Amino acid sequence: MTTTLTRPIAPALPAAQPNATPALSVRDLHVGHPTTGHDIVRGVSFDLARGGVVGIVGESGSGKTLTCRAILGILPTPFEVTGGSVSIEGRDTSTLSPREWTGLRGSTISAVFQDPASYLNPSIPVGRQVAEVLRVKLGLGRRESRVRTLELFSDVQLRDPAKVHGQYPFELSGGMLQRVLIAAAIAAEPQVLIADEATTALDVTVQAEILDLLAELRESTGLALVVVSHDLAVVAQLVDEVLVMRNGVVVEQGPVSQVLHDPQHDYTQLLVREHEQYGLERFLTPELAS
Ligand SMILES: Nc1ncnc2c1ncn2[C@@H]1O[C@H](COP(=O)(O)OP(=O)(O)OP(=O)(O)O)[C@@H](O)[C@H]1O
Ligand SMILES: [Mg+2]
Repeated sequence: MTTTLTRPIAPALPAAQPNATPALSVRDLHVGHPTTGHDIVRGVSFDLARGGVVGIVGESGSGKTLTCRAILGILPTPFEVTGGSVSIEGRDTSTLSPREWTGLRGSTISAVFQDPASYLNPSIPVGRQVAEVLRVKLGLGRRESRVRTLELFSDVQLRDPAKVHGQYPFELSGGMLQRVLIAAAIAAEPQVLIADEATTALDVTVQAEILDLLAELRESTGLALVVVSHDLAVVAQLVDEVLVMRNGVVVEQGPVSQVLHDPQHDYTQLLVREHEQYGLERFLTPELAS
């Protein structure tokens, strides 16, 4: 299933230096309702090195998306960051003005979510929508942005970039739409990409292809990833470190092999047991994965 990108989007970064500033650092993050004083997310902490992958797994409603949105500075009202901190490339995001946030999103940190169609305008061909990102974020001209969009479509392994460029969202499958969204998300060459349930709505084969694509983009461009899923198998095959969330709290956190082979918390043990039937072992035992 693994294929090679024909042309890296940016030169691959050297291996992460132990003392280098993390691409993303989250410290005791709390998200809540400032008026009620009730925190929904309570104490999420992790460091994401350049080119690293952190996974967040947990049941529906455990606070995964609110954590991502807090990191991206796009919490839905009335939620706010009520404690802790988020630093992107060493910069404390609580000090950012709305204008600085807009500059940062897309070009330093970016995201893809479930249901890609809802992030695209149904009445504009998808190529023009990605080209618009390039014009706004990188200041490219019309011709340049078209050429670059076609390159990006090839980077995300859309088979016929020129054809897809002129197609409307309704003409594309869910997997193709997610590739278009990934192309838009990496257009301005961010350091960090958050994939929040990005493969959840896709069938299993397409889901595996998109996960392969994310892994390849990481390898070829040094993109650091936060992969969020309620599905332990999705996280297991891609990440270095995993956080297990329940009711807004991280109940277990550590290297993926340790957490999955020797889960300490009852809830993690339950997750691992539930997923054994879906072939989690395949991801944990390399000789079975080929
Ligand atoms: N816009 C909102 N308005 C009100 N409550 C919300 C909103 N978004 C999230 N919540 C609540 O916050 C809690 C955490 O939600 P969140 O979306 O972060 O969970 P999640 O782990 O991403 O779940 P899922 O796996 O279903 O995506 C839930 O109890 C949810 O009901
Ligand atoms: Mg969610």
